[in-house]
Amino acid sequence: MSLSKRSSLLWTLAAASSALVSTATGFAIPRSAHQARQIRDASQLLPAYDYVIVGGGTSGLTVADRLTEDPDVTVLVLEAGIFAPDADVLPVTDGGTRRQPRYFFPSAPQENLGGRSIDVWLGKMLFADNAQDWSWDGMLPYFKKLAKRFNISTDTSYWGEHSPIQASFPSFQYPGLDPLVSAFQELPGVEMIADSGAGRAGVYWYPTFMDPVKVERSFALNAHYSNHRDRPNYHLMAETAVRRVLLDKDTAATGVEFYTKSSNGSSVATVKATKEILMAAGAVHTPKLLQLSGIGPKRVLEAAGLETLVDLPGVGENFQDHSNVGALIALEGLKQIHPNANDLTADPAFGKWADDLWAANRTGPHSIAYGNVAGWLPLTAIAPERFSDLAAELEAQDHTKYLAADVDAAVAKGYAAQMQGLARAMRSPDTVFARYRVDPTTGASEPILNQPFSRGHVRINAQDPFGADPVVDYRSLSNPVERAVVVEMVKWYRRFHFDSSLKALGPNETAPGAEVVTDEQIAAWVPTALTPTDYHPAGTAALMPRELGGVVDQTLRVYGVKNLRVVDASIMPSLPGGNTCQPTYAIAEKAADIIKSKA
Ligand SMILES: Cc1cc2nc3c(=O)[nH]c(=O)nc-3n(C[C@H](O)[C@H](O)[C@H](O)COP(=O)(O)OP(=O)(O)OC[C@H]3O[C@@H](n4cnc5c(N)ncnc54)[C@H](O)[C@@H]3O)c2cc1C
Ligand SMILES: *[C@@H]1O[C@H](CO)[C@@H](O)[C@H](O)[C@H]1NC(C)=O
Ligand SMILES: *[C@@H]1O[C@H](CO)[C@@H](O)[C@H](O)[C@H]1NC(C)=O
Ligand SMILES: *[C@@H]1O[C@H](CO)[C@@H](O)[C@H](O)[C@H]1NC(C)=O
Ligand SMILES: *[C@@H]1O[C@H](CO)[C@@H](O)[C@H](O)[C@H]1NC(C)=O
Repeated sequence: MSLSKRSSLLWTLAAASSALVSTATGFAIPRSAHQARQIRDASQLLPAYDYVIVGGGTSGLTVADRLTEDPDVTVLVLEAGIFAPDADVLPVTDGGTRRQPRYFFPSAPQENLGGRSIDVWLGKMLFADNAQDWSWDGMLPYFKKLAKRFNISTDTSYWGEHSPIQASFPSFQYPGLDPLVSAFQELPGVEMIADSGAGRAGVYWYPTFMDPVKVERSFALNAHYSNHRDRPNYHLMAETAVRRVLLDKDTAATGVEFYTKSSNGSSVATVKATKEILMAAGAVHTPKLLQLSGIGPKRVLEAAGLETLVDLPGVGENFQDHSNVGALIALEGLKQIHPNANDLTADPAFGKWADDLWAANRTGPHSIAYGNVAGWLPLTAIAPERFSDLAAELEAQDHTKYLAADVDAAVAKGYAAQMQGLARAMRSPDTVFARYRVDPTTGASEPILNQPFSRGHVRINAQDPFGADPVVDYRSLSNPVERAVVVEMVKWYRRFHFDSSLKALGPNETAPGAEVVTDEQIAAWVPTALTPTDYHPAGTAALMPRELGGVVDQTLRVYGVKNLRVVDASIMPSLPGGNTCQPTYAIAEKAADIIKSKA
């Protein structure tokens, strides 16, 4: 898959990350100045903060915002990335500018994908018994913190009105969506769901993370930092990579070590936290930093020559992402339904109309980011004849066989428990297994596998643990049921085009292609086309019992360490059926409530 094609996939709906504010290199803002302080140099830091947050992305800035609502609480956010220019990050049209700063490095070669390495893309900027209820009912209030203004259908019981993060719909949709949405309903077991907030599987409209008035991106930086100029207790230092968390002899976190901006990665400084360190570096860098701090699987730490302070085998394990399956069928007939996106250039009158609407009121076709409707389908609809056999096959497996050979027994036990749960989900009409997004001009894009069966890992590089990127291994297709489900997804994708009214629109299959017919042939094709990421990494510091390989408890505290919590997408035990940005906001909101409640 070419890079340009790849990047067009990235800027999906809820344009996730964050962003911005260019900075002049500067002078110290007096502490009396009433604004959230951007710290430019380590010399401006306070000697200690109540909370130090590692990472200023989706989760980090959300938690920082909520904690600094209390003027007596001091918070420092350390973020490796930059304040990217507004012009690079605010536009929504056509999925934005694609100029957001990113981490970009190759994964470990994938054994089951013909030895291919996959590009790991991650946001790198400011984004932009005490049991806690992490169930749907317990999470709903935190999802509801997202406000939704304009709507295609709205059930206000699912959407809040008081979050600075805005979710809204573009003011225009192309008519080519009509045949696509109708065709979904011609296939058995596919339900129309009135609201994307309902937590159901089926076809639904979902909003864009977009301010409905300014019609620009709504993300962590403009919603949870830039709007808090009046908070002198909220400090943020960009372009500052944390090196590790410091633990004392009682394994209590006391502060962090970070690379100073001017040092080119050579000299380090430290900052103390009097209450807690909160890890928000995302599902790849949070486990890396925990391992570098001596918290993780002893074997991995020893191999890198590091002392193990807390032997916690789950750190970096249970790694998951959504996969892009790579099948592609174009609907040539959609080009005859006007207007469509090609008409923006092909039909000067339509192009001018669109430009005028945008210039005058920020309405019309240019308010579309990346599409707002998809089938989010359960396996019962994708494989009505096979789901039950596949679930039974999963249940009967010796699950440990499909993990890396060196995986710890606790991690293996957790995996087995997850697979038993996944087998139940395979029989449920309400768990999303695949996403089929539809585009009014080109048709249904490549299907996405939303429930991975394989588990990979993130481990520090044993040769150069501090300097090199971590080893990211998706271990794609290591569980054979994964490949069988992907085969069913490809077959459904074909039925959608060839066994429905869409047949009249001239489906043109370019992948796998007409010569790939039987299940065996499709299964053999899958490794050549599958990409094991949809940029939704999660799971590497899972909220699970320690004896199942979990890393954090119900209050998000790292097992065996005092004053250290994880508040980002790493804590998801398994991926949600939908995209990860909104669930990460919800996790961060709930984390902030837990911390404030002193749980
Ligand atoms: C290209 C792309 C497109 C995406 N599109 C969508 C989408 O359309 N819809 C959706 O729902 N989700 C999308 N996502 C996923 C979404 O962005 C993530 O799920 C979400 O941001 C995760 O939040 P987080 O807080 O866990 O991590 P992040 O938001 O990634 O934040 C982690 C932060 O930590 C920083 N960091 C890392 N290491 C260090 C260090 N050593 N010191 C200091 N800081 C550090 C990083 O620079 C980063 O800013 C996309 C992701 C990418 C990369
Ligand atoms: C959103 O939907 C509600 C309920 O159907 C309706 O009352 C309201 O007018 C809609 N808002 C917009 C902006 O379309
Ligand atoms: C950092 O590296 C750059 C590029 O190699 C160099 O120009 C600069 O002088 C270095 N700065 C320091 C403080 O070493
Ligand atoms: C912009 O909105 C105003 C107010 O609704 C309307 O009168 C005007 O016609 C709109 N302009 C365009 C170009 O659509
Ligand atoms: C199908 O797609 C291929 C590749 O894009 C193209 O070369 C071919 O002309 C298309 N066929 C039809 C019938 O449009």
